[in-house]
Amino acid sequence: MHVPTLIARKREGEELSTDEIRQLIEAYTADEVPDYQMSAFAMAVFFRGMTAVETAALTRAMMTSGDCFSHRAGHPPVVDKHSTGGVGDKVSLILAPLVACAGCWVPMVSGRGLGITGGTLDKLESIPGFKVRVSLAQAAAQLDRLGVVMMGQTERFCPADKKLYALRDVTGTVPSIPLITASIMSKKLAESLDRLVLDVKYGSGAFMRTKKEAETLAAGMVAVGREMNVEVTTLLHPMSEPTGRTVGNALEVIEALDCLNGQGPPDLRQLVLDLSAAIAGVPRTELEQMLDDGTARRKFDELVAAQGGRPEDLGKLAEIHRAPVIREVLAPASGVVGRVDAGMIGQASVQLGAGRARAIDGVDFAVGIDQLLKSGESVHFGQPLCRIHARTAVDFDMAEAMVERAIRLNE
Ligand code: URA
Repeated sequence: MHVPTLIARKREGEELSTDEIRQLIEAYTADEVPDYQMSAFAMAVFFRGMTAVETAALTRAMMTSGDCFSHRAGHPPVVDKHSTGGVGDKVSLILAPLVACAGCWVPMVSGRGLGITGGTLDKLESIPGFKVRVSLAQAAAQLDRLGVVMMGQTERFCPADKKLYALRDVTGTVPSIPLITASIMSKKLAESLDRLVLDVKYGSGAFMRTKKEAETLAAGMVAVGREMNVEVTTLLHPMSEPTGRTVGNALEVIEALDCLNGQGPPDLRQLVLDLSAAIAGVPRTELEQMLDDGTARRKFDELVAAQGGRPEDLGKLAEIHRAPVIREVLAPASGVVGRVDAGMIGQASVQLGAGRARAIDGVDFAVGIDQLLKSGESVHFGQPLCRIHARTAVDFDMAEAMVERAIRLNE
């Protein structure tokens, strides 16, 4: 395999063979192909796309770049959910323990922040001590005991996605249907699932801008799942406005805890219930009850304890991650909120430090936006539109200007 030739052929729109794609992914995983060549390849795929056969080959190569789950005989239904990425989307933090309470196993393998969208792993790591690096043996034992594990890719589990995901985040190559399909489906298929629900987002805060693009992405992921005998359901949701009222790592965990306590914003609760109902195999009313009576919250606490955190810290996250500058953005006039642009809010959050500019960067757990008004809500002149949590006053000013552009008030 001559990698420059492969890159050039993809740049010219040629179809690569299954074998070529497998060799490329194997070599990249083994550090024999450097990041600069893989970035060029990803950019060529971004512009030229891939056929269904190439996408399936990429997915399979990425899935088999490491080990897969092998569940013990007689296991309960193994299920999961994955979102194609949104702003303020903290659904996984609630859904995974909730669906485990319904008697399913949820071996949830997630990602870090990608582009303007937040990542479940970064959010979980805002809980002091929480370890997302879990071996397959530990994950299997935890599934048996608790029914849920939340972890990231490792050098042994989907290592190709671990590397490529981080590279795409910082090379402008995220919003590509074949790359998203292979990234998501390689992780989910390596979990050896019975049922999967995909939350396919579209709009300014998603990688797919239009519903039509989201439908194409959804159809491609369903086709890959069918080939591997996994029942895949897709739900399409607009991501024109952030989910809930918070954006940012620790801030989103705090809002997820509200929902796990039977409270929190209605749009978040509804999304959690819609997606959970598609895989849990129990009536929606039972899921609602498990949110309201503390069952799901207790499971989340057990999950936190099992993965190195202390449940007693959960109520103190706002203090543990207190940003130096916390200030309100005030309404310039009275009116009704007509739009809260998710893309712009996501960008503001990334620039505050909640996301990455380089693959080696960490994220700032404390920064972000909360108390965000939703469209349809009324506000009077001088009342808060939201609060910004910033590291510095300069960062606050930058984010404030973006938030003011993101929120449209109709008088
Ligand atoms: N989620 C993933 O895991 N990968 C993507 O490429 C996008 C969203």
